[in-house]
Amino acid sequence: MIFKTFGLILFFSWSQSKSIFMPNLPFGEYRFVIDKLYPCGSRKNHTIQFNYYSSKKASNITEIKGNITFLIPFDDNLTIDINVSSWGSTGGWIPNYYILIRKNACSSIRNLFGNSWLTMLNAFNVPAYRCPIPVGTYITSGYDLTKFEDNGLPKVFFYGKYKVVGRYKNVENKEVGCFVGEINLIRPWETTI
Ligand SMILES: *[C@@H]1O[C@H](CO)[C@@H](O)[C@H](O)[C@H]1NC(C)=O
Ligand SMILES: *[C@@H]1O[C@H](CO)[C@@H](O)[C@H](O)[C@H]1NC(C)=O
Ligand SMILES: *[C@@H]1O[C@H](CO)[C@@H](O)[C@H](O)[C@H]1NC(C)=O
Ligand SMILES: *[C@@H]1O[C@H](CO)[C@@H](O)[C@H](O)[C@H]1NC(C)=O
Ligand SMILES: *[C@@H]1O[C@H](CO)[C@@H](O)[C@H](O)[C@H]1NC(C)=O
Repeated sequence: MIFKTFGLILFFSWSQSKSIFMPNLPFGEYRFVIDKLYPCGSRKNHTIQFNYYSSKKASNITEIKGNITFLIPFDDNLTIDINVSSWGSTGGWIPNYYILIRKNACSSIRNLFGNSWLTMLNAFNVPAYRCPIPVGTYITSGYDLTKFEDNGLPKVFFYGKYKVVGRYKNVENKEVGCFVGEINLIRPWETTI
């Protein structure tokens, strides 16, 4: 399924470079809209705590506010395990749409985030841009999500609603942190309201 998806995406990226315009395709360039950010079920004993939430600053500006607390360094001893569900056409989340497991969590996230890694660390007042990120509580007064669009994720994807659950695990494979986001990939000319 995933390989087919990426095959299509590669094909589309290639055909797009020849300026073929197909606005009704189910995939293409998208705008990234966050519907919700919320904590995972149990955060007992978590040494990485995501205390952030999304907040609408204006009808077209969404910010992330709050803090992230690292009681352990955020480094490459950690593994990141991302589990994406998609919203089904008849409603309900369909699990295991996409599973991504990466060792070297800090470097992997830095690569996935691309340039938005810098803007995000800057917004959270993190004093370092390289891995590891030292122990501390990092607070943001607001990270404008349009800045997150400058990331290393595929620029072309299937439109729709997705739920992304990310779990950080330590070398003993114990969960040390978890985040959930519900996102919407919409066509560039669509609005959310
Ligand atoms: C949290 O840690 C304590 C002590 O190590 C352990 O007894 C408890 O089961 C842990 N709770 C969870 C939810 O992992
Ligand atoms: C981080 O966020 C949590 C949850 O909103 C809050 O209780 C805590 O006071 C915040 N910490 C700091 C240092 O702002
Ligand atoms: C948001 O809307 C305002 C006024 O409607 C506009 O000036 C601004 O450029 C918009 N910002 C973005 C990021 O689209
Ligand atoms: C793993 O953790 C150890 C002990 O905290 C640290 O010295 C080492 O630099 C870490 N390794 C990586 C790759 O982050
Ligand atoms: C992904 O999430 C679904 C639904 O929460 C769960 O059933 C499945 O076991 C998870 N898969 C992995 C590999 O974690």
